[in-house]
Amino acid sequence: MAAPTLQILCNLLLLLLLLPFLTVTVTADDAAFMSKLAEALTPTPSGWSGSSFCDWKGVKCSANRVTSISLASQKLTGTLPTDLNSLSQLTSLSLQNNALSGALPSLANLSMLQTVFLDGNNFTSVPEGCFQGLTSLQTLSLTDSVNLSPWTIPSELTQSSNLAKLDLGNTNLVGSIPDVFGSFVSLQELRLSYNNLTGALPKSFAGSSITNLWLNNQKGSGLSGSIDVLSEMIHLSQVWLQKNQFTGPIPDLSNCTSLFDLQLRDNQLTGLVPPSLISLPSLQNVSLDNNVLQGPVPSFGKGVQFTLDGINSFCRKDVGPCDARVTTLLDVAKGFGYPLKLATSWTGNDPCGEWSFVVCAEGKIITVNLAKQNLTGTISPAFANLTDLRNLYLNGNNLEGPIPGDLTNLAQLEVLDVSNNNLSGDVPKFPSKVRFNATGNDLLGRSGGGGGGGTTPSNGSGDAPSGSPNAGSSGSSLSPAWIAGIIVIAVFFVAVVVFVFCKCHAKNRHGKFGRVNNRENGKGEVKIDMMSVTNSNGYGGVPSELQSQGSERSDLHVFEGGNATISIQVLRQVTNSFSENNILGRGGFGVVYKGELHDGTQIAVKRMESVATGSKGLNEFQAEIAVLTKVRHRHLVALLGYCINGNERLLVYEYMPQGTLTQHLFDWRDNGCAPLTWKQRVAIALDVARGVEYLHSLAQQSFIHRDLKPSNILLGDDMRAKVADFGLVKNAPDGKYSVETRLAGTFGYLAPEYAATGRVTTKVDVYAFGVVLMELITGRRALDDTVPDEKSHLVSWFRRVLINKENIPKAIDQTLDPDEETMESIYKVAELAGHCTAREPYQRPDMGHSVNVLVPLVEQWKPTSHEEEEGYGIDLHMSLPQALQRWQANEGTSTMFDMSISQTQSSIPAKPSGFADSFDSMDCR
Ligand SMILES: *[C@@H]1O[C@H](CO)[C@@H](O)[C@H](O)[C@H]1NC(C)=O
Ligand SMILES: *[C@@H]1O[C@H](CO)[C@@H](O)[C@H](O)[C@H]1NC(C)=O
Ligand SMILES: *[C@@H]1O[C@H](CO)[C@@H](O)[C@H](O)[C@H]1NC(C)=O
Ligand SMILES: *[C@@H]1O[C@H](CO)[C@@H](O)[C@H](O)[C@H]1NC(C)=O
Ligand SMILES: *[C@@H]1O[C@H](CO)[C@@H](O)[C@H](O)[C@H]1NC(C)=O
Ligand SMILES: *[C@@H]1O[C@H](CO)[C@@H](O)[C@H](O)[C@H]1NC(C)=O
Ligand SMILES: *[C@@H]1O[C@H](CO)[C@@H](O)[C@H](O)[C@H]1NC(C)=O
Repeated sequence: MAAPTLQILCNLLLLLLLLPFLTVTVTADDAAFMSKLAEALTPTPSGWSGSSFCDWKGVKCSANRVTSISLASQKLTGTLPTDLNSLSQLTSLSLQNNALSGALPSLANLSMLQTVFLDGNNFTSVPEGCFQGLTSLQTLSLTDSVNLSPWTIPSELTQSSNLAKLDLGNTNLVGSIPDVFGSFVSLQELRLSYNNLTGALPKSFAGSSITNLWLNNQKGSGLSGSIDVLSEMIHLSQVWLQKNQFTGPIPDLSNCTSLFDLQLRDNQLTGLVPPSLISLPSLQNVSLDNNVLQGPVPSFGKGVQFTLDGINSFCRKDVGPCDARVTTLLDVAKGFGYPLKLATSWTGNDPCGEWSFVVCAEGKIITVNLAKQNLTGTISPAFANLTDLRNLYLNGNNLEGPIPGDLTNLAQLEVLDVSNNNLSGDVPKFPSKVRFNATGNDLLGRSGGGGGGGTTPSNGSGDAPSGSPNAGSSGSSLSPAWIAGIIVIAVFFVAVVVFVFCKCHAKNRHGKFGRVNNRENGKGEVKIDMMSVTNSNGYGGVPSELQSQGSERSDLHVFEGGNATISIQVLRQVTNSFSENNILGRGGFGVVYKGELHDGTQIAVKRMESVATGSKGLNEFQAEIAVLTKVRHRHLVALLGYCINGNERLLVYEYMPQGTLTQHLFDWRDNGCAPLTWKQRVAIALDVARGVEYLHSLAQQSFIHRDLKPSNILLGDDMRAKVADFGLVKNAPDGKYSVETRLAGTFGYLAPEYAATGRVTTKVDVYAFGVVLMELITGRRALDDTVPDEKSHLVSWFRRVLINKENIPKAIDQTLDPDEETMESIYKVAELAGHCTAREPYQRPDMGHSVNVLVPLVEQWKPTSHEEEEGYGIDLHMSLPQALQRWQANEGTSTMFDMSISQTQSSIPAKPSGFADSFDSMDCR
C-alpha cells in the first residue's frame, strides 16, 4: 500500500520540479524559427535551402533541435528575429563579422548556450535582461559593436558562473565596472577597452583568475582610482590600462609572476616604480609614459621592452639615484599615498628649486608646509631624516595613525602643527622649545586609543595610504541575484535527489517512470551535469581555482608581444647547432631539442622536416601557428614561436623539465623516479581537463586535440601537467604520413566513432581523456601487448571491471595502496573514466564536467596521517599554525608533491623514444 503511494508522490514531485524543462524540450519546434531566420537574413546564407534546416550549412542539430549556428563573416544584413531564445538547445551562436543590425534579440534562458560571438556587427541595442539565465555561458563576444546605444555591463551575467571570456570592447558601455567578479570563478579574459566606463576597479578583481585584462582607452573621463587590486590578481599575464585616469602608485606586483605585458601609459600614476616590478621574472613589455611617476628612472632588464618618456616626474633624465633630500621627501609622499599634487610639483632632483610646499635656506630644507591639502594616509617617520627641518605644518588634513616618535629627534624643530587631523596613538614628548599643536585629533593620546584605529607604520615603511580602497577579504553581502542563484541551486539539488531516489526506487519496482526517463536520458543527464557545474563552482570552486594556480611558475613568454618568427641562427645558437647532446626526444613529427637562451631560460625546439609543401601549405602553417602562439593557458604547453627554414619547420615551446606523463606513469622504474601518488594523479588529471576544456572553448576556433595521451602530457618540476601538441595534428607535414595516421591519432585512445568515420568532435578528446584516466587508475597502458588478449585493450577491460564496483580495487595500480579516502576518490575518477569513454559521443560529458568532478577531489584533500604529512614535506619542528599556513599555501599546488619524489639522483640519459612525439627529458631529483 505504502509503496505505490510513495511512487506516485515521487512522480508528482519530479514532474513538478522538471516541468519547465520537459515542456520546453517536448513542445519546442525549431523549424518555424529557422525559416524566420533564413528570411530575415540578406542574402540568404549559402546552403540554407530545403526544408530540413538541420542540413543547412553552419547549422548543427541534435535530435532535430538546433544546437549550433555558425554564420561568421558572410556579409549578412538584416535583423535577427526576437524569439531567438526559443532555440532552447542552442549551445553555440557565431554570427560575428557580418552587418546585422537592429536590436540584439534576447538570449535569456538559453541555459545550454556556451559560446556567443556577435562581434563586428551593427546592432543598435541590447535588450534588458538579454543575458539572464545563461548558466552554461563560457564565451561572450560583442566587440566592435559601435552603433549600440549606450548600455551598462549587464549584472545578470553573474548567473554565468562558467564565463571564461567576456569581450565587450568598443561597444559603447557606460557607467562603472560592477563589483561582481567573485561570481566568475573561471574568468580569464576581460576586454572592456574603448568604451566610456568610469569609476574604480572593482574590489572583487582580487583573487580572480583573470589572465588578460584589457580596460584601455576609455573614451570619456576614464577609469579612475588606484590600481592596487592588481597585486592580488596573481594570474595576470597581460594588463592594458593605458589611457585612463588611474591615480596612486604602481602596487607591488611580485605575486603576478606570469605578467609579461603591462601597459600603464597615459594615466596619472604617481610614486616610485617599485623594484618588484623591475625584477618581475616574466615581464617583457611595459609602458609607463605620460604618468607622474617619481623617483629614479627604472632600469629594466635587457629582455624588457619599455617606454617611460612623456610627462613623468622622475628625479633625473638618466638612470641613477636621486638626491638624498628627494629620496626623503618621496618617502614622506609615500606616507600620503603619493598624492597627485605632490607628484606634479615635486619633479627634478632639487627640492630647493621650485618645489611647492618646501622652503629651503642654503640648500637645506627648513620648512615643509602641507597644511590643508586634503592629505590622507599617515605621517611618515622619514620626516625625521630632514635634519634641518624647523617648521612642519600638517594641520587641516585627514591624516591617520600615530605621530612618529622619531620626530622628537629633529634638533632644529620649532613648529609642529598637526591640528585638525584624525591622528591616534600616543603623543611623543617634544622638547619645550617646539611649538606643538595637536588639537582637533579626537583619538590622539586616548589611553588604549591605539587599539581603535591606529595602523602603526613600522619604521621606514610608510604604510599604504589607509584612505585608498584596500581590497582585502570582501565581506560580500548577499545580493538578490545571489539569493536567486542559491535558490535555483537548492531547487535543483532537491530535484536531483528526488530524481535519483525515484529512479532507484522505480528501477527496483520496474516502474514505468524508469522507462520514461530512459527515453529522455540524454537531455535529462545534461541538465543534471549542468547544475552540478553551477553547484561546485558555487562552493568548492573558488579557492581551488586560486590555489591550483598558485603553483604556476613564471611562464615563459619569451617571444610574446611581437612577431612569433624566430631566426634559424638564433635556434642554432641556443641548441648548440642542434647537437645530439641536446636531443630531448624523437617522434612522429620530428626531433625535439633542448635550448637555452642567454638569460638561462630553457626552451624546447621541435624540428620537423616537411616534404614538398607549396606556398599554400606554408600559408596555412603560418596562419595556424599565428593562432597557436596566442593560445596561453597554464595547462597548455606554450608555443613560443616558430621558424621556417627551407623545407624545415621549427616550433619553439616552453621547456617542461619533468618530461612526459608516460615516463612517470609507466616507465618510472627505468627513469629512477618514484611512482606517482594518487594525489599527483588526480591533480594531473585535473590539469589536463582544464587545458583541454580551454582548447575546446577557444574563441577564434575551437581546437580539438585529437591526440591526447600520456606522451603528450608534460610535467613541470611541481608535477603539475600541461598538455602539449594541441592543434598540431592537422599540421603534420603532408606527404610523409598517411591521412589515416594523421587522422587516427593513436590506437588505444581513439573514440569508436572517430575510428569508424574519421568524424571529429570535442567528444573525441573526452574519450581519450577517459582512457588517460583509466591509465592513471590502473598504471596500465591503453594498449598492452604483454598481457592476455582480454586485458590488452584497456578501455574494454576496464569498462568490464566497472560493471561491479567491487572489482575496482583489484584493477588499480599496485603502487597506490590506497586508504579508504583515497579509494573513494578512485571510485569517483573510475566512474568519470567510464562516463568519458561511453560508446556514443553524446553520452560522454564535456570537459567542463570532468573539471567539475575532479576539482573537489584535488582540493579537499587533507593529510590524514603522520606518514602522509611527512611525505608532504612539512617540517615537524614548525609550529602548528606555521605548518597549516604552509600547507594551505601549498594546497592544490605541488611543492608538496616534489617531496614525495624519490631523492635518488638518476643518471639516466634522455631516452629517445620511438613513439612519444614529445619532449623526453626529465630530471628526477
Ligand atoms: C526566463 O525564465 C524566467 C523563469 O522561468 C521567466 O520569468 C522569464 O520571463 C524568462 N525570460 C524570457 C525572456 O523568456
Ligand atoms: C550601421 O547602421 C547605421 C544606422 O544605424 C547605418 O547608417 C550604417 O551604414 C550601418 N553600417 C553598416 C556597416 O552597415
Ligand atoms: C561618456 O559618457 C558621458 C556620460 O555618461 C557623456 O557625457 C560623454 O559625452 C560620453 N563620452 C563619449 C566620448 O562618448
Ligand atoms: C604574495 O603572496 C604571499 C602569499 O600569499 C603573501 O603573503 C604576500 O603578502 C603577497 N605579496 C603581495 C605584494 O601581495
Ligand atoms: C580639498 O577638498 C575640497 C572638497 O573636496 C575642495 O573644495 C578644496 O579645494 C580642496 N583643497 C585643496 C587645497 O585642494
Ligand atoms: C633616513 O636616511 C637613512 C640614510 O639615508 C636611511 O637608511 C633611513 O632608512 C632613513 N629613515 C627613514 C625613516 O626614512
Ligand atoms: C592649534 O591649532 C588650532 C587649529 O588650527 C588653533 O585654533 C589654535 O589656536 C592652535 N593653538 C595654538 C596654541 O597655537
